[in-house]
Parts: sequence; structure tokens; C-alpha cells
Amino acid sequence: MNTESTSLRTRTVACTPYADQRMGTAGLRRKVAVLRQPHYLESFIQAVLDTLSLRQGASLVIGGDGRFFNDVAIQTIIRMAAAAGATHLIVGRDGLLSTPAASNLIRTRRADGGFLLTASHNPGGPSGDFGVKFNMPTGGQAPEQVTDAVFEATKRIHAYHLADLPLLDLARTGVQRHGQLTVEIVDPVDAYQQLMEKLFDFERIAHWIRSGHRVVFDGMHGITGPYAQRILGEALGVSPEGLMHTRPLPDFGGLHPDPNPVDCRHLVDLCALPTAPDLAAASDGDGDRNMILGPAFMLSPGDSVAMLLANARLAPGYRYGVPGVARSMPTSRAVDRVAAQLGIPCFETPTGWRYFCNLLEANRIGLCGEESFGTGSSHTREKDGLWAVLFWMNVLAAREISLPALAASHWREHGRHYYQRHDYEIPDAARGAALMEELRRTAPQLVGRRAGDACISWADDFCYRDPVDGSESAHQGVRVVLDDDSRIVFRLSGTGTAGATLRVYLERYEPDPARHALDTTAVLAALGREAASLARITAHAGPAAPTMIV
Ligand code: G1P
Ligand code: ZN
Repeated sequence: MNTESTSLRTRTVACTPYADQRMGTAGLRRKVAVLRQPHYLESFIQAVLDTLSLRQGASLVIGGDGRFFNDVAIQTIIRMAAAAGATHLIVGRDGLLSTPAASNLIRTRRADGGFLLTASHNPGGPSGDFGVKFNMPTGGQAPEQVTDAVFEATKRIHAYHLADLPLLDLARTGVQRHGQLTVEIVDPVDAYQQLMEKLFDFERIAHWIRSGHRVVFDGMHGITGPYAQRILGEALGVSPEGLMHTRPLPDFGGLHPDPNPVDCRHLVDLCALPTAPDLAAASDGDGDRNMILGPAFMLSPGDSVAMLLANARLAPGYRYGVPGVARSMPTSRAVDRVAAQLGIPCFETPTGWRYFCNLLEANRIGLCGEESFGTGSSHTREKDGLWAVLFWMNVLAAREISLPALAASHWREHGRHYYQRHDYEIPDAARGAALMEELRRTAPQLVGRRAGDACISWADDFCYRDPVDGSESAHQGVRVVLDDDSRIVFRLSGTGTAGATLRVYLERYEPDPARHALDTTAVLAALGREAASLARITAHAGPAAPTMIV
């Protein structure tokens, strides 16, 4: 083929660097208004492409959660990727792909990486948030070394390049050719559904549904709606009334697409009724988070990963167990106990899914989770909301037990970790940074200090050394452990788009089964007060009480 005649013409546009394009916990997340500034998105994408220096003929996966600006950004990224030498682009129909489905496509299609357009659970619409993540050929998010290099590149960007392409029609699946560029529009659900069918016992789950068990799933007008309709509805027989808010909308219908007890109050209320479903669940805007509830019961995410580990062999994809597990540092240590009993390692990583990826890639772990409603496994390199729902359906169907009964029996065996996160919104980001700075400095001196009925036995500023590549990530949060094994963790959010959010994670271990049905807020109230006083939250930052408790 004469490449000369088929190569696309490109156009170069001059630009001035923006100083604020450092990526956070999960990609570059900004207010839509910020991302729509002239050349803002383009400068960032060019910095990513320059840093990666894609091979000529590279293939990339591109898709997003359907939020406002998704359609515009996708056309720009396609043109820029083509100008950078990519010749095969795999794009979700209508520009839609859930985060785990995109990660799966990158892996199964052996792509050179992918752009995922999402701000996860943050609100959407013109006044909401938008974001861009870049994932590596493994399907996992770019590691810190890459995101740091991209940030350096953003400071030097003076031009970006666009291939001359018409506005592409993303509504039709199939292959389009433009010069040497092939754009393949794929059904967003197909490959993901095939993967789920391999991992879980669909027949058993469908039988469980047919025999009268009720499931409610809320897609929150995010990306998971079409996945839920096909997999939960058509394949497994969940009734249409059980599938809520399944149409992806650019502004999520004004909802905050975050599966937590505050934003999903309606599911908590539904589960409190005598007519509660056997399982209620929700996912977030881009489909990587999950919340699981049952009759008069909400499963804490730290318990979820612990209980899934204890029951993993019931799912066909995990019938041989897993080589190890991991949890993010602030996540409850419930899973550590199950891992110890199974005799497998349990790794403690910084917050952010990307830190699990090396361990997954090296097959050191097979299951992992975060307290922020994130659970996942080696099946992909992102956390996966619908996967967690299917895993729980599989476990409940196989054990023929209710979710609250399963939890109670798990706690009888392992003890219960009461757990809560208190968030404090601090309008002035500098004050939040000063608070953390003081905590880091004083952490070593806290040892021996009384905190309620207990004494602080150790405290540190968490620094992670990746066991696979030896890289170090410092300042990942301050850990304070008491001599009754209670724990307080402090860190600043890395996903916000305004001010600072201080996250305070509280955990108290209770071995006595007679004390397993207590109210979590009551159990942790005193520890929460100790935490606020240790960090001098009011003195530093203003808010006297948490702005959100999950
Ligand atoms: C939050 C969660 C974290 C998760 C991230 C992306 O980050 O705490 O566990 O990986 O969102 O979904 P944070 O805002 O705390 O930096
Ligand atoms: Zn998400």
C-alpha cells in the first residue's frame, strides 16, 4: 500500500502552556468550564501523547461515561491520536465505554493504551466536572512516573497537532477508514459481557432470580445502565422494575452518580422496608464503583472485599483461589484477617486504583479493594462496579443465604471492623495543606499520647514502596494506631476540583459477637472526636463537624 497517498494531513496549532495540569488520584479532573478554555484539553492530550511517544501504527481504545463534553472531547482526541501516529482506534458506540470495559478492551485487543473520558462519580453537565485518564497497554491507569512526566510536559507545550478528519459518526458499529486510519466503533457491552460470563455462574444466578429472589440495581443515569440491562436484565432475568435510571444522560439527570449511603439514600430506605429486595446495588458515573445492600443492611466496602475473599471459590473464575490480596491503606483491615487465615499475602497500597496494577500484573494478587466503594480483581485493571454486583449475586445464589446472615456469620468467625469515613470540606486549599503538613511533622511525637480510653502506639506518614518495581510514593496519608488496635488515618482528597477535602478514616475492631450489631456511628463517635482534636481541624480549617460521613 502506498502510505504516502493514504497518510492524513495534519494541522499544527500554537498554544501557551497552562500551569495547572497536574493529574490527581485518577487522571486530570476539572470543572467543564476549565477544560473548555481555549486549547486546554488539546494541550493536555498533546503532553500525554508526547510523553508516550506512541509507535507509528499504534492502536488506542477511546470511550467515556457519556457526561457533558464527552462527545466533543472524543472527536478532538481521535484527531490528535491520529496525528500522533495511531492508526487503529477502537471507540465505544456513541463514545460510551464504562471504565472497566475500556480497561478490558485495551487488554483483550492488545492496544497500546486508551483514553477514558470521565470524572467518575462527580456531577456532570455544563456546570459539573469532566476528566481525562490515560491507561497503559496493561489496561491500568498511568503510574505516577508517567503522570509526573506528563505534568512536566504540560509546562512546555507550545503547539499541538490535529489530523484533518471529518466529524466522525460514532453511532454506527463497524469499521470506518480515513486514509491510513481505521476507526472501529464497537458495541460497549459485548466483550465485557463475555468476560463476566466466564467469571460467574450465570446459570446458577438466573435460577436464583427465577426462584423468587429480587435484585434492584440503580445505574444513576451513568454508563452502567446499558450494561445492567443486557447482563442483569436480559441474561439473568432481573425484572425491568428492578433496573433504575439506566439511560446514560450528560448531566446524570441532575443526580450525583456516587454509590454511597448519602447519595443513594433511596436505596437505603428501600432496604429498610419489610419488602426489601434480596440485593440492592448501585454503580457510579463511569461504572467502576459499587454499593451493595440487603434487607435492613448496608455492606461496608472493606467488609465486601473481605467476604468476597472468604467466598471467592464459589465463583467459577476464582475457583482456584487467589495468590494474594491488596487494599488501599485507609481501607479497613477486615480483609487482612481472611488473608492471614488463608495463608496468602495482603498488601497495603496508597489510595488510588493504579497502585494495585503492578501487583495484579505480576500475579501477586487476585482481588483488591478500596473503602471508597471500589472492588476489583485480576480480570481487568480498573475497579469494576457491575462485576462486584455479579460476584455478590453468585455468592448469595451459591450459598443460599441472605446478605445480612452471611455478614453475621463472617463477623462471628473473624470479628467485625466498625468503619467510617468523615470528610471535612475546607474551602481554602492552603489551609488543608497546612493541616496535613503539621500532622506529618508531629506524627512521630504522638506515640504514647492518650486518646480516649486507649494510648497511641504508633503513628507515621505512609510511604509506599512498590514490591514489584521498587518505586516509592511518599506522603500517602498519616496513620495513627491505638493500643486497642483502633486506627485513624488522615489524608487529603486528590480528586476534588475546588478547595480541599480532608478525609478522616476511623476503624475499631470488635471480636465479641455479642457486640456485632451496634450502631457504627455510636461505636466510632469518640474516635472521631479524638481524630478532630489530634489534627486540630477546627483551629486549622474551620469546619467543626464533618461535612459528610460515609
Ligand atoms: C477517591 C477515593 C479513592 C479512589 C478515587 C478514584 O480519591 O478516595 O479511593 O481511588 O477517588 O475513584 P480521593 O478523592 O480520596 O483522592
Ligand atoms: Zn468511578
